[in-house]
Amino acid sequence: MSCILLLVLVGVLSLAWLLGRRRRREGEPPLIQGWIPYLGKALDFRLDSQAFLKNNQEKYGDVFTVYIAGKYMTFIMNPLMYPSIMKYGRQLDFHEFADQVAPATFGYPAVGSGRFPEMGDQIQRSFRLLQGENLVLLAECMMANLNLVLRQDFLGGEGERGAGVVGMGWSTGDLYDFCNSVMFEATFLTLYGMPAPARRHSDMATLRHHFTKFDDMFPLLVGRIPIWLLGRTKAVRETLIRYFLPQRMMCWSNTSQFIARRAEVLEQYDTLSDTDKAAHHFAILWASVGNTVPATFWALYYLINQQEALQAVRNELHQVLKLPEAQGPQQPEVIVSKEQLDQLLLMDSAVNESLRLSSASMNIRVAQEDFSLRLDEERSAPVRKGDVIALYPQTMHMDPEIFTDPETYKYDRFIEGGREKTDFFKHGQRLKYYRMPFGSGSSMCPGRFFAINEIKQFLCLLLLYLDLEMAQGQEKAQLDNSRAGLGILLPTKDVRFCYRIR
Ligand code: HEM
Ligand SMILES: *[C@@H]1O[C@H](CO)[C@@H](O)[C@H](O)[C@H]1NC(C)=O
Ligand SMILES: *[C@@H]1O[C@H](CO)[C@@H](O)[C@H](O)[C@H]1NC(C)=O
Repeated sequence: MSCILLLVLVGVLSLAWLLGRRRRREGEPPLIQGWIPYLGKALDFRLDSQAFLKNNQEKYGDVFTVYIAGKYMTFIMNPLMYPSIMKYGRQLDFHEFADQVAPATFGYPAVGSGRFPEMGDQIQRSFRLLQGENLVLLAECMMANLNLVLRQDFLGGEGERGAGVVGMGWSTGDLYDFCNSVMFEATFLTLYGMPAPARRHSDMATLRHHFTKFDDMFPLLVGRIPIWLLGRTKAVRETLIRYFLPQRMMCWSNTSQFIARRAEVLEQYDTLSDTDKAAHHFAILWASVGNTVPATFWALYYLINQQEALQAVRNELHQVLKLPEAQGPQQPEVIVSKEQLDQLLLMDSAVNESLRLSSASMNIRVAQEDFSLRLDEERSAPVRKGDVIALYPQTMHMDPEIFTDPETYKYDRFIEGGREKTDFFKHGQRLKYYRMPFGSGSSMCPGRFFAINEIKQFLCLLLLYLDLEMAQGQEKAQLDNSRAGLGILLPTKDVRFCYRIR
């Protein structure tokens, strides 16, 4: 009986939806709505966003509107049109969208709600502390922290844990887990600082464990699924947030300028509870490791898989550092300076190439008014207030016209004649944007310089200290699409690798 009632209800709702849904107006892009109320085409999009978008592009052309989870999203599929989209700073806003999604995901009150005058601007200004002179300090600190964690945990250095300490022979490990344990802790120490009396936080493994639990649910939270539907996620998030309560953070020393400044900004608002402040800091933890760890994995994975690439990048490193052939961890620890890091062109290209292959972030803007969006010289499209304009750079990253054999990893793809290659073409026209793992325009990731630096530093130390190989009989790592649209994709499962001290 109740079953029939439910069916009737669904029928009525769907009918209401079919009658009430949007009609395409003259001149607007083709409209794809699907027949499911609210969700629209959300399920097709989730299943395989790349294929879904490419199919629609074949059917409807470079610009079309799709109804997804309550939103009308106009996708701009032609990268030659990207520059003109970037020009709409005022009419196409990024922060409105971010301020809807991030607070619900991380558990703090919306920044733009009027309760926190000027907080948004102050936070934006604090992002400068991830660049320029401060980047040099961050790089120095990161280098020291990477050496510390790597040597103590994996290279038999002095330290109380010594888990996975290697002797003279080969050891095996899980590659993702390895990258995660080193990068998570070194990044944490660099940004948030160390517990005053000790060099390392004693509960880092637990924090990381909780973080992973939260991160697994991240796509659902961003998809606006209420947290109380997600089992223990709420409790896990509360544990993570408590880690950053002001009374705890006060005891840490050598905190980065960036985090110290954020704490200062948050202190100005007595409308924020201590838990709210802590939730803001937790959000930055996610921003700083959520993408960096998988990006580090892919950067290292592709090199280990292609020993010629690994050897070429290692040779460049030896040249820049003017080192003899091998440099073991028994010798004094290696410090690669920021200038030396910047000279590693092949490594830069290799990192960029792995980002090209693994990134799937969607760039989103919300139309602030009805207006006509100019797409290129000839074309424009009317846009309605509240509509979302979306770029999906993964289709560009995987376009065979722009990148020959786009599925293949070519570590030197971005080098030509000993310098960076910057000319890539579509329909015979040179592209202004051809690599966008960090978003675009006004919402570009403010941590991108630090991120690339730390990935390169990690690679430097590994290539100098260790021989690295895939374990026998490993299948190729596959991309897990469940966070398509949200950044760097994770591998579907971990892979085994072997390492020994050089
Ligand atoms: C490989 C690593 C990283 C990738 C691929 C990445 C990517 C991104 C992307 C795609 C965005 C959104 C931009 C947009 O929607 O247009 C973003 C925002 C952001 N990222 Fe990163 N990121 C990385 C590492 C980092 C690091 C290490 C930090 C901090 C130290 C960081 C801090 C941030 C912050 C604070 C925002 C929000 C900016 C805002 O609200 O305006 N990211 N990142
Ligand atoms: C902490 O920071 C100070 C100066 O900011 C620096 O001299 C010191 O080496 C740092 N300590 C560690 C262990 O990183
Ligand atoms: C790699 O990408 C960064 C920006 O993401 C850029 O600054 C750098 O020049 C690129 N290097 C190469 C060799 O492609």
